[in-house]
Amino acid sequence: MNAGESLPIGQHDIEIQGNRQAWERKPQLRAVYRGFHELIASRLDRSVKGQIVELGSGMGSIKEVIPDCVTTDLFPNPWLDRQENAYRLSYADGTVSNLILFDVWHHLRYPATALSEFRRVIAPGGRVIIFDPAVSLTGRLIYGLFHHEPVGMRQPVTWEAPPAFKPGDADYFAAQGAATRIFWRREAPERLADWKVAEVTPLASFEYFATGGFSGPQIGGPRLFRLWRGLDRTLSHWPNLFAARLLVVLTKTP
Ligand SMILES: C[S@@+](CC[C@H](N)C(=O)[O-])C[C@H]1O[C@@H](n2cnc3c(N)ncnc32)[C@H](O)[C@@H]1O
Repeated sequence: MNAGESLPIGQHDIEIQGNRQAWERKPQLRAVYRGFHELIASRLDRSVKGQIVELGSGMGSIKEVIPDCVTTDLFPNPWLDRQENAYRLSYADGTVSNLILFDVWHHLRYPATALSEFRRVIAPGGRVIIFDPAVSLTGRLIYGLFHHEPVGMRQPVTWEAPPAFKPGDADYFAAQGAATRIFWRREAPERLADWKVAEVTPLASFEYFATGGFSGPQIGGPRLFRLWRGLDRTLSHWPNLFAARLLVVLTKTP
């Protein structure tokens, strides 16, 4: 896939089904994801009234760590709670306390349109928690060389959907650098004026790379993975060089 290229939306579901098979045969990948989900869980604000909802849940594995999270996706797969489209959510105004997007932000072609829908459903003081690729030097190299989706650090961001856009028209879009550009590099701070950016944490994640993700081979066994994890903690001190993951927390300002 090249930057700007568009595929039919069904490509997501093809990947979800393939990922489920990889999930079953890759215990280390499951362990690393559990760590990611625990990190997300640590950022939930449970003092806010409303539902905890994940958008774009794919396989729905977040429930293993956050059992009361409502899992949703564009596709009504039987293991998910609800079908939801980021551009038009079925939730009433102010009813979601925490909205989680794990590896979903970089699939949103129209980030401002999605953000305004998120703002509608989030309760006062509620949060959007985004976990997405971070494009540091290492991130650019590894995602650029080994992942099929474009990094897209230079293509113009199409913030708003055109007036005639209907949520059902969404296509398969990918720009892995989207969260880095918007939240970490702050290319357009005025677009976040309605939010408090409470946290932007870039993290090294050689541990994740070593799993080979859903399509590549795993490098090393459990012992080596403990080493990768330790290394990640150290290398996270140099995010511009080594970050591979970005944790972002937005809170809804009054
Ligand atoms: C890379 S997968 C991530 C799946 C899961 N969160 C995980 O980390 O394993 C991206 C997911 O986002 C979903 N998605 C893409 N565009 C979406 C949209 N407009 N609204 C809701 N979900 C969307 C896809 O169907 C897919 O399941």
